[in-house]
Amino acid sequence: MISKLLPTIFSQTWNTGHHHKLAGALVTILVLAILAIIGAVAYCLAKIISSKDVKGLEPTVPEASLKTVQDLKDGEQTMEKFLRDIAREKPVRFTLEQLCSFTNNYSTKLGAGGFGVVYKGQFPNGVKIAAKILKTCLNKRVEAQFMAEIGTIGRTYHINLVRLYGFCYDQTKAALVYEFMENGSLDKYLFTDTEVLKWEKLLDIAIGTARGIAYLHEECNQRIIHYDIKPANILLDAKFSAKVADFGLAKLCNPENTHDSTSGYRGTPGYSAPEFLLRNYPITQKCDVYSFGMLLFEIIGRRKNAQDCSSDTLDWFPKQVWDEYEKGELAAKVLGCGIEENDREEAERMSMVALWCVQDCPEARPPMSAVVKMLEGGVEIVAPPKPFRYLYSIGMDALKSPCRIVNGSSHLASEGTQGQGGESFWYQESSPIIAKYGASGFAVSSN
Ligand SMILES: Nc1ncnc2c1ncn2[C@@H]1O[C@H](COP(=O)(O)OP(=O)(O)O)[C@@H](O)[C@H]1O
Ligand SMILES: [Mg+2]
Repeated sequence: MISKLLPTIFSQTWNTGHHHKLAGALVTILVLAILAIIGAVAYCLAKIISSKDVKGLEPTVPEASLKTVQDLKDGEQTMEKFLRDIAREKPVRFTLEQLCSFTNNYSTKLGAGGFGVVYKGQFPNGVKIAAKILKTCLNKRVEAQFMAEIGTIGRTYHINLVRLYGFCYDQTKAALVYEFMENGSLDKYLFTDTEVLKWEKLLDIAIGTARGIAYLHEECNQRIIHYDIKPANILLDAKFSAKVADFGLAKLCNPENTHDSTSGYRGTPGYSAPEFLLRNYPITQKCDVYSFGMLLFEIIGRRKNAQDCSSDTLDWFPKQVWDEYEKGELAAKVLGCGIEENDREEAERMSMVALWCVQDCPEARPPMSAVVKMLEGGVEIVAPPKPFRYLYSIGMDALKSPCRIVNGSSHLASEGTQGQGGESFWYQESSPIIAKYGASGFAVSSN
């Protein structure tokens, strides 16, 4: 069209013998110029789009965590910004003065654990908090790692994980500021007679906890091993929903303590997996599955797994559950724990899940997403093999203190491999939906 029109226009202006040739050349130049402009625009657009993509993927510490909120009491603008950051799930950096003011000069102690002391407090807008003052050495290098870990923990958000609002890092103190959990920690309900939770609620708590850990292991951006699953780290909100606390803390407080190091004992005796003591398997997220199994036993028994520290057997509940299960007396055992007949089947099921979780070999333990399914009840649980064989070689003392026992025969297993033939074997899919549409997951029985 253009090539037809242009020669007409030009033919009126230059009425020479060469006007056709000239017009042809001009048309070519014009077409090339248009093509060049289109090319340049496309290039610029592509550049803009790709730079946005890169920004979205940058693993940076959230901007807000690098700045200090000036003074939350002064200026509504700052307060608004702070609330905006919290809503956007960014951990906020607080000053030591702010921390002191939030906790009313550290006046209400909620408890203390391996990583520090926890104080109750509240933000100026009335939102309640729990501030954990960490026992950690403070220097520039540690500070950089602290920031990186805060970035990870602060971006890890799930309904069954305790929310990190912010932190404080100063020459004298490092602290983490969490959402306050109205009903405290699960240990209070399991190990005292005064506060009682019904079985139904306990099952909910177990499933919620399993979901929180499954998220840490299998779903969140940066996979996190908790290393310290136990009732004191399961917190309960106003509705008694479970939220896992202290995830990411092991790494935050021991940045150099990787699982390869020789001093690598982690967690709490009685809950930590045998591979920490025996060094017969590499440490993987399956160490949390073991600890979760120990927690399930404590939910079933409503007692500490080890009670009598003076005796050789420690009156150890998990072993009792296995012995009764082996004899076909599991029902009597759970009823003997005060569980009502109505809840017996669920309690037996939970016992089977617990026995799977505490298998000696990490690979034999199910992944947490399978544990969730097993607890929820839509699948038929396959008979667990005998656990606790390791205790025959090292004795019950291993459950008391964090001693390290080196086993000469080291059996290294690679993470992710499963039962013989690569199949998993913890349960059989039995729900009608799964039967209809086929098992999409990884845990289908090989039996
Ligand atoms: N976010 C929180 N809300 C309410 N109470 C908490 C919170 N975090 C911790 N606590 C209480 O403080 C106690 C000590 O916590 P912690 O220092 O993590 O030690 P541990 O987990 O070893 O018991 C917990 O057992 C719990 O009762
Ligand atoms: Mg804790």
